[in-house]
Amino acid sequence: MARTPSFAARVVAWQRRHGRHDLPWQNTRDAYRIWVSEIMLQQTQVAAVVGYYARFLERFPDVASLARAPEADVMRLWAGLGYYSRARNLHKAARIIMGEWRGTFPRTPEGLVSLPGIGRSTAAAIAVFAFGARAAILDGNVKRVFARCFGVAGYPGERKVEEALWERAAGLLPGAGTEAYTQGLMDLGATLCTRSRPTCGACPLQSQCVAYRDKRVAELPHRKPVKALPRRSCVMLVLREQREVLLVKRPSPGIWGGLWCLPQFDDEAAARRWVREAGGRWHRPVAVEPIEHGFTHYHLTIHPLAMTLPLRPFERYLGSRPAGLAHLRIALHEATEEGLPAPVKKLLTRIAAGA
Ligand code: ADE
Ligand code: SF4
Repeated sequence: MARTPSFAARVVAWQRRHGRHDLPWQNTRDAYRIWVSEIMLQQTQVAAVVGYYARFLERFPDVASLARAPEADVMRLWAGLGYYSRARNLHKAARIIMGEWRGTFPRTPEGLVSLPGIGRSTAAAIAVFAFGARAAILDGNVKRVFARCFGVAGYPGERKVEEALWERAAGLLPGAGTEAYTQGLMDLGATLCTRSRPTCGACPLQSQCVAYRDKRVAELPHRKPVKALPRRSCVMLVLREQREVLLVKRPSPGIWGGLWCLPQFDDEAAARRWVREAGGRWHRPVAVEPIEHGFTHYHLTIHPLAMTLPLRPFERYLGSRPAGLAHLRIALHEATEEGLPAPVKKLLTRIAAGA
């Protein structure tokens, strides 16, 4: 009976027929060229890298020329590629290679990982592609392939999960042909097993893929757990006189700085004090349905209180205060046209529709 091909054998066979073979950093054993490509590819997709890579190598054809260059020249060639610490580290590492490694690259993952900007996976990729080493990579794409194929639960950014994935990566390495295998894993993750809507129909791993079998492809890998945000609440006053409503300008800087808003208070007691101080009368407030709003750092529940009362005292009061408390009395249906925070706009639109 024929043996089922191993994971690595499937990846390698697929790579041979469907993988990428003519990328500018392939078909070379030049550690410098491979290193530069791996750094550029760390957070950037192939299509965006290609042009930068060609210009960079034309200006800095070897590690000596890169080490000699002023940092500003390196940064200029990197401009637009993003994650600029990559460029600074590349330059620093070039100087270390010239100064401490006599101009030749370390040949092992351990040596490579000692250089700035080279993490465990990048070190392995360079060692594999430049020196034919037998070492495991585990970049973001490969984590996704493993998490799906083997049904590894948990967020891969978490140390325990990452360790489990590294163990997988090491255990799956073929005895030989690590280059084709490594390139195959990268290509599979980048072209088939994509984050959204992977092409499982064309995948050489489909018959052994746990996520595919269990219909968990969309679920895996698990996303970063969202921390429960602190919850806050506030009261907003919808002070109305006939068809008009009172808006105040939010101080800038600050949340919603410079936008028109409803007078906002920590709680109802504070709102009452303010109304009294302004010379208004706390008069039959109507609680409107609360509005939920998510900020990056906290969650806000807005409790609107609507009141119909003369607005003149509030205008006089706000006008008498030091600068920064601009106010506006405006027809309710026009208020929604102003620059308002989203939840305030939602609230006023709702009230205008019911008014
Ligand atoms: N992403 C990271 N390294 C890569 C490589 N060598 N080829 C294609 N994509 C990559
Ligand atoms: Fe990824 Fe689908 Fe292949 Fe599984 S079958 S490894 S989910 S592309």
